[in-house]
Amino acid sequence: MKLNLKSLTELEQFAQKFAHALKKGSCVTLHGELGTGKTTFIALVGKYLNVTEYITSPTFTLVNKYQGKMEIYHLDLYRINSETDLYNMDIEYYFRKKNALVFVEWAEKLESFYPQEYLKIEIEFGENNTRIFQITAQGPKYEDFIQRLNTVDN
Ligand SMILES: Nc1ncnc2c1ncn2[C@@H]1O[C@H](COP(=O)(O)OP(=O)(O)OP(=O)(O)O)[C@@H](O)[C@H]1O
Ligand SMILES: [Mg+2]
Repeated sequence: MKLNLKSLTELEQFAQKFAHALKKGSCVTLHGELGTGKTTFIALVGKYLNVTEYITSPTFTLVNKYQGKMEIYHLDLYRINSETDLYNMDIEYYFRKKNALVFVEWAEKLESFYPQEYLKIEIEFGENNTRIFQITAQGPKYEDFIQRLNTVDN
């Protein structure tokens, strides 16, 4: 699915809907240039999953963990330089979590470490400071998610 989000308000409305359609055990990857709003989106989804802590990018730690309606892991791979780094941080540990929700920022760095199934969100700059979200299911589980997203009521 493709969306054009014209403001932070529209982004927040979508984040709310997205949060309500999500189930634990999901993995969401975020792709897009610096400043497209990957962290902002994760923070807003977290807000609607009842995270009270301030969600910010885990730049130095690589991973932040939050407790909301479910356990949330926010991985930021910006500083990852090689697959050895991914191996050393035991990235697959997070993908095995059945009761958590995992967000991966700068997911293009995953290379051979991509999980079997995931929801892919690509963000681009549109005209007049808007954002274009392209959301694709990688695997049947996330095709169901996109269906739910299209039908969910806030
Ligand atoms: N849909 C939107 N409309 C307008 N502004 C937005 C939108 N989404 C994010 N922004 C603004 O863009 C800026 C950068 O956002 P953010 O830090 O979330 O980007 P990022 O993709 O995580 O960047 P980085 O690659 O550095 O981690 C913030 O000031 C945020 O308020
Ligand atoms: Mg960020």
